[in-house]
Amino acid sequence: MDVVILSRADTATDFVARVIARELRRAPQLTLGLATGRTMEAVYARLVQMHREEALDFSACHTFNLDEYAGLPASHPNSYRHYMNQLLFQQVNIDLANTHLPEGVAADFTAECARYEAEIIRCGGIDLQLLGIGNNGHLGFNEPLSAFHSRTRVQVLSPTTLAQNAPQFASPEQMPRRAITMGVGTILDCRRCLLLATGPEKAAIVARALEGPVTSMISATALQWHPACTVVLDKAAAGQLKEKEFYRWVFANQPEWNFYREALPAAKPAPRKQAAKRAVAAGRLK
Ligand code: GLP
Repeated sequence: MDVVILSRADTATDFVARVIARELRRAPQLTLGLATGRTMEAVYARLVQMHREEALDFSACHTFNLDEYAGLPASHPNSYRHYMNQLLFQQVNIDLANTHLPEGVAADFTAECARYEAEIIRCGGIDLQLLGIGNNGHLGFNEPLSAFHSRTRVQVLSPTTLAQNAPQFASPEQMPRRAITMGVGTILDCRRCLLLATGPEKAAIVARALEGPVTSMISATALQWHPACTVVLDKAAAGQLKEKEFYRWVFANQPEWNFYREALPAAKPAPRKQAAKRAVAAGRLK
């Protein structure tokens, strides 16, 4: 696992969008795994901007979302299908037929989950899976005690998740109590995982997920087993990590991230230092 700590939420978001864009440019037929939640809104806004300003091309890629609320039709404003259509799919040149989410109003959920897993395999598996993290450490909607070998299935949502996501609904009672989610095993099968967490409210769970013992009580700890996982954090979300200096050292020495460092403008001295330099040059300060 690589842990990338950047100063602000917008720089962390930009980094994630650039990693996705780089993979998409390398392999336009990429199968991309997508996530939802407030954190991802800024990632999709940045990808839309890259599509408009840098001609980032989505025409050949396929996407699979992690999850969907059980019982919500695609047209419902709180469905993840609606979220994805609004924030990404209708803003870029993706073929809607190549975008996949579990069907929230399927007549037979067991058959729908099996169909979703089969569809992922038919597309050659997921190359790059974008992930957020819930306050209880869930990935997708893999609530505590989700088996690490679990596949796409219906999951009862925990009270923590209801509290976290209910404010997005017109009234808390309207939030479904169940969701269809890729399993932890489905996620571990993705070739590469890219998790983004920002803000101080994620600091405690990020520390437990990255540095705590691997346990099915916190689904995100399963990523410690993943052979190609990058976790991108802002300073606030990294606030409770013990090994920050080590992660910064690895980031600074990891050639894979040269593309990002090279794109950064050369650091300018802080304004106060510039003023002090001018004062020294003018002989007013020693
Ligand atoms: C939902 C999604 C998760 C996501 C989480 C984070 O619960 N099912 O996949 O990780 O939201 O949400 P936020 O970014 O709003 O904190």
